[in-house]
Amino acid sequence: MPRAIVFTVVLTLIAGRAVAQDAKPADPVPMQLTAQQDHKLMMEALKITALRPGANGMNANAPNAANYEESKANPFPNLPDPLTLKNGEKVTTPAQWWKERRPEIVEDFNREVYGRVPIDVPKVTWEVTATIEEKVGDVAVVTRRLVGHVDNAKCPQIKVEIQLALTTPAGAKGPVPVIMEFGFGPRPVGPAGKAATPKGDASKAKAGPPGGSGGGGPSWQRQVLDKGWGYAILVPSSIQADNGGGLTKGIIGLCNKGQARKPDDWGALRAWAWGASRALDYFETDGAVDAKQVCIEGLSRYGKAALVAMAYDPRFAVGFIGSSGEGGAKLHRRNFGELVENLTSSGEYHWMAGNFLRYGGPLTPGDLPVDAHELIALCAPRPTFISYGASSGPGAEGQWLDQRGSFMATVAAGPVFTLLGKRDLGTSTFPEVETGITDGDLAFRQHKGGHTNGPNWPTFLTFADRYIKVKNAPATTGR
Ligand code: GCU
Repeated sequence: MPRAIVFTVVLTLIAGRAVAQDAKPADPVPMQLTAQQDHKLMMEALKITALRPGANGMNANAPNAANYEESKANPFPNLPDPLTLKNGEKVTTPAQWWKERRPEIVEDFNREVYGRVPIDVPKVTWEVTATIEEKVGDVAVVTRRLVGHVDNAKCPQIKVEIQLALTTPAGAKGPVPVIMEFGFGPRPVGPAGKAATPKGDASKAKAGPPGGSGGGGPSWQRQVLDKGWGYAILVPSSIQADNGGGLTKGIIGLCNKGQARKPDDWGALRAWAWGASRALDYFETDGAVDAKQVCIEGLSRYGKAALVAMAYDPRFAVGFIGSSGEGGAKLHRRNFGELVENLTSSGEYHWMAGNFLRYGGPLTPGDLPVDAHELIALCAPRPTFISYGASSGPGAEGQWLDQRGSFMATVAAGPVFTLLGKRDLGTSTFPEVETGITDGDLAFRQHKGGHTNGPNWPTFLTFADRYIKVKNAPATTGR
């Protein structure tokens, strides 16, 4: 080889090495996928070629019209027994539940249903961006706007900033219990540290779809304050977008450096629940909050998220699970209203682990190793209130959510509560609308206000009041 060429080659190699030594490993380019594309990728990863169609809730004449006949509603009548170990042995002591059976159930939900939170999920650093003194009706409160900055060193292109607002009575004499809602976003915030609406009247602000009382009475926030408790609103979409196209972004995308999910990775419900746990971490550091008395609440898809949060994080003291339906408190094994096959479609699969798709074809809901009653059982022994609107009659929220199937799940969760020394529903008879079953530690009630938690707030608060107490409270609440 001529000397000049050898020289050039050597120089190129040296230069190449210098570049290689200097350069950081290339940052992965986060994928931009539509929900349909991501859904297809997951089907390919699972080697699924076809999924069964979901139930059609809009057209009663469609071939796949949702079933509303009770006689056809239970194609898989046998539920997995929450108190039988996989080896067939019966669970008869609390110790067996905690050490053996509960971990089995959690593992099944992790792998097949909601997905796993990655072990190296990044840390969240909370920042108070505004402290606002305002009034809710005539109650003076302090609202703190917070942002949870998620460490994104792993993939700087993906930024996750969790939004949270915490409101506590200004006159509180000590840390107060707090009800946290998966909500639809706080009102606009002014510059850091400055109140956007100083001394404003928060009771006049629209509380958003799940917030109102639903009956023209005081807002739920006001009812909570009247007990001397505080409330918090967490914004789920700031944790994880509510669509499949968002799975390569948000906290799930960040953990995967913008790449598509593995089949047992977490879905949005688990991610939202994770965010609620991080908010609870913050409460543990905030002197205004009694973090041992934090309740979690949500409606509809956020009712599902509230149940997942309650089931997975034993630090949540009480759960208010509103109209959660399929993927929440409703038995997957039921053929009534919304089905597993709706959840596995490209419009909803992002709530779940990828593996869950398998139960929409080739497997069936009857093949699921766990069902909704075991999710409720994971909440035991902590008080859990399952809330719905009526399925029919004036102002009903409809049958799509399967109120009865959710009641059946709540009944079937009962033995775990009993084993742990708590009281189950005390009945297996589906109650009338507005007849609350609230004497035990598991509760169920349907109201007449439609798709809202509104009219169930007073009953829920009376139920929660048995467990949640303001310590160092002045005689008249926190006002
Ligand atoms: C749809 C969906 C439900 C969900 C609800 C919601 O009705 O089928 O599963 O709970 O939307 O608004 O969250």
